[in-house]
Amino acid sequence: MYDEIIAQNSEWIDGLFAKLDKKLSRLAVKSRNIIPFHSPDGTTHDNHTDDSPLGITWWTNGFWGGLMWLMYHATGNEEYKITAQTQEKMMDKAFGQFDLLHHDVGFMWHILSGASYRLTGDRESRNRNLLAAGLLAARYNLSGGFIRAWNGDNAGWTIIDCMMNISLLYWASDETGDSRYRQIAMAHADMSMRDHVRADGSVAHICVHDIATGEVLETKSGQGYAVGSCWSRGLGWALYGFILSYIHSGKQEYLDTAKKVAHYYIANASVDGWLPRLDFRQPMDPMRYDATAGVICACGLIEIAKAVPENEQRLYLSAAINTLKAMEKWYDLSDEKDGILMMGSGAYNVEVHNWLVYGDYYLAEALLKLKGSDFLPW
Ligand code: GLY
Repeated sequence: MYDEIIAQNSEWIDGLFAKLDKKLSRLAVKSRNIIPFHSPDGTTHDNHTDDSPLGITWWTNGFWGGLMWLMYHATGNEEYKITAQTQEKMMDKAFGQFDLLHHDVGFMWHILSGASYRLTGDRESRNRNLLAAGLLAARYNLSGGFIRAWNGDNAGWTIIDCMMNISLLYWASDETGDSRYRQIAMAHADMSMRDHVRADGSVAHICVHDIATGEVLETKSGQGYAVGSCWSRGLGWALYGFILSYIHSGKQEYLDTAKKVAHYYIANASVDGWLPRLDFRQPMDPMRYDATAGVICACGLIEIAKAVPENEQRLYLSAAINTLKAMEKWYDLSDEKDGILMMGSGAYNVEVHNWLVYGDYYLAEALLKLKGSDFLPW
């Protein structure tokens, strides 16, 4: 069933990927020495490291280099590799900012240094990725049983985004033979399954825990519309994050949870013509979308389709393809702009309908999965 659906769509997949490659191979040279993050309409790549003291430690800074590794693996074009390696070296400055580093070090290094090591065997890249894994593991609260988000006074806060960062920990255990990283990853995934994913498959962005017992004291809306709503990118982090945890651990409950979250996504996205609302419980007016949620969910749905028995595959794979096709009107494949996936949104009231670098990253990752890539960056 999986292969049949891919074959039916192969012309579209290959055509879209060829256009992406044409545009990105130009940008690989143009944006070699900057770390782009966002722009209102994607006209030009910005340089996020120039903005503020937080610039170099910003959570999205691994995505441009990570995208370059994806494209290098897919095409063998050395320009992509040179840019990825340049980006990785630029990111070394972030290791010097301990107080500003946070739970998102997986986004920053696992797809950059982790990808470099896995694709080229570079020992310096391995070292960087292990340093990042150590930083993430050190955020684990032993009595509460969770990885804390952010810094400062919020020691009891957890966020669903972290489900994407813990792939770094599974890798670190496999790489070093030290099972502690994996134990932390699974303890955190267990907490997220219990506390962030609701019975109906919707997802809470932030949980505030008692730091001694781990008990949930309250939930917060975070980047979504309101307390009790369902921020679509947060749902995407859960959908993709749980199937990744299943792939790395084999624990059945993680697959079941990924499917439950996917069912919530499918039910909601399908009534809107597969265009992902920014929050699945926001008002319908003004209508706000988040294209980044769509491409992240597509990645997770494709991985679920690969993990389930044949008679379940169509539901997940078709949902991924429907989403990617519905959003095609938001892809800019021209040479006039630097950005590709428009209509991304940072949060309910922040960077609404912008170009965001991670949208382009996950669009390429989803297409490469559909093309049969054997490289799983997470
Ligand atoms: N911190 C991850 C996000 O904004 O989705």
